[in-house]
Amino acid sequence: MTTLSTHRDLLLHELRDMYDAEHQIVDALPRMSAMATSPDVKTAFDEHQVQTEEQIRRLEEVFALLDEKLAREPCPGIEGIITEGMKTVRGKDVAGAVRDTALLASARRVEHYEMAAYAGAWLLAQTLKLHDVANALEQTRGEEEETDGRLERLAMKTADLSAGNSAGIVS
Ligand SMILES: [Fe+2]
Repeated sequence: MTTLSTHRDLLLHELRDMYDAEHQIVDALPRMSAMATSPDVKTAFDEHQVQTEEQIRRLEEVFALLDEKLAREPCPGIEGIITEGMKTVRGKDVAGAVRDTALLASARRVEHYEMAAYAGAWLLAQTLKLHDVANALEQTRGEEEETDGRLERLAMKTADLSAGNSAGIVS
């Protein structure tokens, strides 16, 4: 049984959880990109995949900073979000724009989960005065937030164009 007797133990648990989550996301993004119809949505998923690979490397650097063993702790939270998103569109006759909107909504759920998880881990690192670790986690949290904003703008555009507004509500 894993022992979580200190906040450092909890931080390691959270980092291993996110290390697994990021791997699940790297696996899911190409499938989401393949299912998307809009080139802009595909590009957003493809670019976030590259960014997620960098985030995995950043977590590996964090484990090195802590001089701790790299390991994946299964993250059922992200698994559930990804499964739910796929279930919404897979095997169904979903119109292109609706499919993109559904995929974007699922991807934004992932980003929000990650933002909360990295913010929690950042708080632990700050409390433990592990400032290099905290900075690395904040960098990733900021990237997730930026990605969420990009996905939000795409979702607004996709929904608006499919409603027949050719100019779009965002430029
Ligand atoms: Fe990420």
